[in-house]
Parts: sequence; C-alpha cells; structure tokens
Amino acid sequence: MIITDLRVSHFEKPLGMRLSPLSFSWIAEDAESQRQEAAQVKVWNAQGLVYDSGKRVDLSSLGFSPEIVLAPRTRYQWSVTVWGEKGESASASSWFETAKEEEPWSAKWITSTFPKDQHFLLRKDFPAKAGLRSARAYACGLGIYELEINGKKVGEEYLLPGFHCYDMLLQYQTFDITGLLRDGENTLGASLAPGWYKGSLTFDRYDNTYGDTMKFICELHLSYEDGSEEVVVTDNSWRCLPSPVLESNIYDGEIYDAARATPGWSSPKCPAETFPTEELSDGTELLAARLNPKIVKKAKFLPAEVLHTNRGETVLDFGQNLTGWVEFRAAVPAGTEVKLSYGEVLQEGCFYRDNLRTAKCEYHYISDGKPAWVRPHFTFYGFRYVKVEGVSQVDPKDFEACHIRSDIDPIGSIETSDPLVNRLFLNGLWGQFDNFLDLPTDCPQRDERLGWTGDAAIISATACKNLYMPAFFHHYLKNVELEQRYHKGAVPVFVPMIKLKPPRNTAGWFATAYSGTAIWSDVATMMPWALYENYGDKALLKAHYPLMKTWVERIRQDDEADGGRGLWLRGNQLGDWLALDREDGDTQNPFGATSLPYTASAFYYYSASLTAKAAKALDLEEDAAQYGELAEKIKAAILAEYFHEDGSFAITGTQTACVLSLFFGLYQEGKKQVVVDQLKKRLENNNLHLNTGFCGTPFLCRVLSENGLNEYAYTLFLQEDFPSWLYEVKMGATTVWERWNSILPDGSISGTGMNSLNHYAYGSIADWMYRNLCGLTPCEEAPGYKKAKIRPMPDPRIGRVEMTQRTASGLYRVAWRYEGNAFRCDITVPFDCEAEYCAPDGSVYRLTAGSYSF
Ligand code: BGC
Repeated sequence: MIITDLRVSHFEKPLGMRLSPLSFSWIAEDAESQRQEAAQVKVWNAQGLVYDSGKRVDLSSLGFSPEIVLAPRTRYQWSVTVWGEKGESASASSWFETAKEEEPWSAKWITSTFPKDQHFLLRKDFPAKAGLRSARAYACGLGIYELEINGKKVGEEYLLPGFHCYDMLLQYQTFDITGLLRDGENTLGASLAPGWYKGSLTFDRYDNTYGDTMKFICELHLSYEDGSEEVVVTDNSWRCLPSPVLESNIYDGEIYDAARATPGWSSPKCPAETFPTEELSDGTELLAARLNPKIVKKAKFLPAEVLHTNRGETVLDFGQNLTGWVEFRAAVPAGTEVKLSYGEVLQEGCFYRDNLRTAKCEYHYISDGKPAWVRPHFTFYGFRYVKVEGVSQVDPKDFEACHIRSDIDPIGSIETSDPLVNRLFLNGLWGQFDNFLDLPTDCPQRDERLGWTGDAAIISATACKNLYMPAFFHHYLKNVELEQRYHKGAVPVFVPMIKLKPPRNTAGWFATAYSGTAIWSDVATMMPWALYENYGDKALLKAHYPLMKTWVERIRQDDEADGGRGLWLRGNQLGDWLALDREDGDTQNPFGATSLPYTASAFYYYSASLTAKAAKALDLEEDAAQYGELAEKIKAAILAEYFHEDGSFAITGTQTACVLSLFFGLYQEGKKQVVVDQLKKRLENNNLHLNTGFCGTPFLCRVLSENGLNEYAYTLFLQEDFPSWLYEVKMGATTVWERWNSILPDGSISGTGMNSLNHYAYGSIADWMYRNLCGLTPCEEAPGYKKAKIRPMPDPRIGRVEMTQRTASGLYRVAWRYEGNAFRCDITVPFDCEAEYCAPDGSVYRLTAGSYSF
C-alpha cells in the first residue's frame, strides 16, 4: 500500500494559505487490502506532537477535520497511517505552514508620491545577519504586484494578489524568501499596477472600481539559528521610483518602455534617484490569508505557424485558444516599438479583434536597444492569434505563448474511437483551463472576464470531474458568501460585484435593487453540492451550508411577498440564456423562449432540494425536513401552475421546459411519459437538433439517456451541423464557444455584441460523457466516489471509450468497446471503494476494489 495526494484543506504542502475549514485528506492505493480498517493522523511542530487522532475506524480519507488551534507563522509536519483489512499498513507525511492568522500587522500600507495613475516601484534596503534559518514575506499589493529580492522575482506566481471582493476581503500572500537573502545588505522591491482593483473593469469600464490608490503592505520575518528574529515592515522609510510600465490594465494590455527601466532597482546600492513614499492611514482589518490557489504558468506553446496575411500583417498562430500571454526575444534598435495584438479568430484570413469589444488586448514594448526576453506583468489575454508589428523579420523561435491559470490540474480524461468527440472533450477542458484564472470567469478575452455566477453554477459538476476543484471553488464560494451578505441574501450575477453606479449606459440593475437570478444565484447551492458529491468533504459542505440556506430563504421572501404559493415570480431573470428557440427566430437575442417564472420556480425547487439534501448529510434533521417540505410545496405549485392535469404543459413546452421537468422530477404523478414524448416530439420537429441555452443544455443529454431516449442523446451529441457540439469542432474550435452559432458555416463571425469563442457553459456535456457515455456516477449516500454506480450506456456509433478519473477516493477506470456485437467492459475500482456495475444487458454486479473485465 502507498499513500499519496496528502492534502491540507485541499492544498498540497500549503504555505500561508487560509486553512479554513481545516481538513486532512489522502489517497491510499496499490494495496492488497480492499478496505481501510483504520487510520491515524498526527500533527507536530518543532516543539513536538500537537495532535494525535489515535488509530480510528471513523477517519475518512476524504477529509478529516480535527479541532486543532494553529499558531501563526508556524511550520507543522503531519502524517497519516492507514491500515487495510488484511493487516497491511502504510504511512506518509507532509507539511503545512500557517500564515499570520490573527496576529496584528505591524506594517503600514504605503504608496508612491507620484501622480495617482502612475505605475511605480517600491524598494527597501535592509541588512540580514549571518546564520539565517528562515525568512518569510507576508505581502499584499493593490491592484497587482510583483515582488523582487536582490534582483530576482519572488515565487513563481503572477497577477497577485488575484481577483476577489477587495471591498470586503484583501488576501495576502506568504513567500518563503530564505534562499533569496544573503548575509549583509539585501533589497526588497515591489512593482505595482492598477489590475482589477483600480483598473478599468466590466463592459461599462468602471474606473477606480475598488480604490483610486495603488498600495502595498509587507512584513518580512527573519528567523536566525540563534533564536533571534527581525522584522522589516513597510513604512515611509521605503523609497519609490517610476516604473517602466507606462500603462496597464486587464482589458487593454500593457505599455512597457525599456528605456525607463532602472537596472538594479531591487538590488542593494540602487544607482538611480529614488523618491519618498507615503504611509496611508488605511487599516489592515480586511487583510486575511489567501484562500486562492496560485496563479502560475501551466503550459507553453510555440507558434504552430507564421501567417502573412493579404493585408500585409504578420500573425502568429499558436494552434490553441488559450489564456495567458506571449513572451518574446526583443532584438530591435533603441526606440523601436514592438506591438503585439491578440485575437481569437481570423476573418478572411486576416487578423481580427472586433469580438473583444472595448478591450484593446495589446502589448507595446519600446526597446532600449538591448536584447531582452520580454513578458507582460500586469495583464493577460485570451487568444490564439497574435499580430506582430515592429519586428522586421519574425522568427517563430523568438516567440512563446504561456498559458497562465490557477494551479489546478486535470483528474479526468476520456478518449473514444471518434476523433471529433476526443477534440470536443479537450475543448471543454481548455474552456475550463482558460477560465479558471483565480475565479471561474465567463471568458478570458473581451471586456468582461468576470466571475459570472450562472456560468460557474452550470459548469461546477463537470469541472469537479475534469479538474481537482475544491480549493479553487472554496475560494470563489467565500467571495460569493461575502457578496450574498452585502446583497441581503441575494447572490449577484457576477462575483466580485461592482458597487458603483454605472459610468455609462447599460444595465446597472445588477448593482441596484438586486434580488437574484435563477441559475446564476443558484451557484449558492449547485456548487457546494457538486463539491460534496464529487469530493465528499463534509467540512466544506458545512462551511457552505449557510450560503445555500440563505439563498433559499431569499427566494422564499419573494415567494411570501407574492402570497407564499411556492413560486418564484420576481428576480432579475435571464432564463434559458442564449437558447435558439425564440419564436421570432432572432438568434442574436440572448433570451430564450422558455417561460421565465417556470424556469425560476424550477430552480427554486432545485435549490430547496439541494439544501434539504445538504442538511441531511450534515445531520441537521430539522432543516432537512423543512427544506424537504418546501421543495414539495414548490413542486405542487409548479405542477398546478405550469402543467395541465393530463401531464402536458400549460406553458410552451420547449426543449428546455421538458429538460427541467424531467431532470428535477417536476411532472404530474404517473405522467412522466407525457413530458418525455413532448421532448421527443420537440426534437423531431427540430430535425433532431438541440435549441437549448444555458439552463437546458447541461442536462439535455442526461435526461434523454435516463428516460429511454439514449439513442437521441447520441444523435444530438454526434450531430456535426449547426447547432451542435461537434459543429464547433468541425469549424476548427479549440475551446467551447459562447453561442452555438458564434461562427457561421461560411467561417464568418455571427456578431460582435456578445460573442466569445471561449465560454465553458456548453462544455458541461462532459458531465454526460462521464455519467452516461462512460457510466461513472458518484453516489449521494457515500459521496467522493466511496460508492459509485457504473452504468455505461453505449451506442454502436461509438465503438470504444476509455475513461479514467482520479477521484478524491482514487483512480476509477472504465473502458468499454464493441467486439463484433459483443459489449466488453474493463473496470477498475480504487481501494476502499465499492461500485455497482450495471451492464447494458441488465445484469448487476457489486464490485469492491480491484480490476475487472466483463
Ligand atoms: C456573459 C455570460 C453571462 C451573461 C449574463 C454575458 O455577457 O459573458 O456568460 O452569464 O452575460 O448576463
């Protein structure tokens, strides 16, 4: 037996992360035994043992949350020992280190004495004695900051401190800087830019969204072998210098003037003139240790092709729509400006950017004549194509696209006999890679890149199967919780939300009198539940339960105000966003045809049911009963209002109306088939093509497969013409588009109002691929795949499927194929798990850990 994946609060070896809720988890594998008999967790620090669970039969590998009071700025070791039923055992150990916890800050926020919009550098010389044992920096800079010590960048992260509700929370970082310091003089430098905090944000281009002053706070703690400690803090003894970054913001990009760079600015004996800084009176009460995973470089791409367009442009094609930036070697004469422009798609073979709307998405580099490797510092782009100007001879070897995202990795993979399907799966994965940059965003390229809650709600169940999500989603949900508190129970359409009045025209409704939006606000219930179902950590569910409950109560207030019938008739509804079923045939209008009150009430029902389930899982009997009853009441009201007694719809029975009815179980007693037949008819009338939007699509193929229409699910899944998933693949997509018709069959873009080629919502088809195509489904009563149902639903149009999912409990594998007419299936069930295999011929097998061939 070996033990791997040792995590604390879902981080491996967390340094300075907020460990709340504290939870230890691991995976035991390669065991002779099949079950965990017992486990033991021990925690110790330099002084000795601080916690010992003892050998216990009730410790779950998915999350064990002991009551330990953790000291600030302390390195802990921990170990886990697991015993299997055959008597074997294994142990493994790891570490974690706390941040400042409740410790007060002795540092002050500081800023430059330059004009408010000018980017600046901060520096401080300080001595270090011989015999340094360890050194840490605790720092936060607003909007975005990078740290350097003695001329070297600190850490491998970018775009710090990330994007969160800066008006309610400021997350600081902890860096191990021991290796960067030397005996004698040292220098700490910080480089500041506006970022999301001060920069221009949303399609309304708010300025100074959270503050108008870029600022920085930092404490260095130096610990010596002789037991002594020194602390260096930000105060007005720090000096500032102008930054070579002349302008930057998230949407427009960056302008860097190398001639204005100060070599040695973050090293001792800086030759340049420096200027005073200013101490701010701003408090430190919003500062909290970070919850967000690191933002790092995850992949690199060389240009797949250098294109010379008929407009005379030089365009690099990186072959993949990705989030990040391009780095390049600059070797041009002094004063030359190299300009990179980013775009997602070519039009008529030329560079194109109009679907990015007001976001300029450029990078300007003004050379000082010295050769340099160049990268942006305070922005990012969503792109596949980059137009290069200012370089006479473009050598592709001088350019490299860096994919930047949160440090979360894939756990699921699916490969089939169909190359288009395989590309679709990858496109879905890339849609998530590209939109998981600190927050789940709608898109990474245009003037939005916001934490739209509906998009996140829809993708959460799929994301939890594709990538290891707990820490990332936990961070997001803590921000959702802050906004929910601010908005009196309502969850806004994007998080973090802007609190300013709109500077220009558009719908300021999300900032004022905001009362919630079905699907979007339901992120409050759908995401915590997806986390629980897929990872089984009760501590996380407990942490998010108040969010779930408060949201349902908020809808209930509206319901009560309308007489308490069990319907949600208010709210700022968006409905089946981007559906293609409008009677007027207007495919640019984002509002679909499914009744808004029906959709809102159906999601009211869903949220109440999920809250009841969560309460049950948390042994909150009263709540479980109460929300169970509420759900029943909503169901009865929906049936009375939106269905006839014969089971048919009293509203337009769109594809999505049917899907919601079947997925949530909202149909008249004994009349399910009426809705199934209605859906079938709708599909047949639409030439077996979908026309669903954000709210129907995630569940469409699932309800078909699970209601006797598996063949139809495959038909929709495998359609290659518009509208369908594979249409995008056939059109050369490398991510998932926002709209089914983002690009028209002739290759032209369908519109520029709201048209991204990198939105992940429709990538939720992967949930069907895991659950129905491959057959792996988590079981609510033993979540985190401790128990699973394996029920592949094959169709001869796909000859072979192989899926692996490294779940929180270990590696599941399902690989099926047709051999002639015979269906064969290989299954692996991990240690300490059980699965029920339901073969397509109806036979049922109970499987314990091990590998099987059927
Ligand atoms: C975003 C969507 C979002 C929607 C809601 C769009 O601009 O990109 O994904 O959910 O607005 O209004």
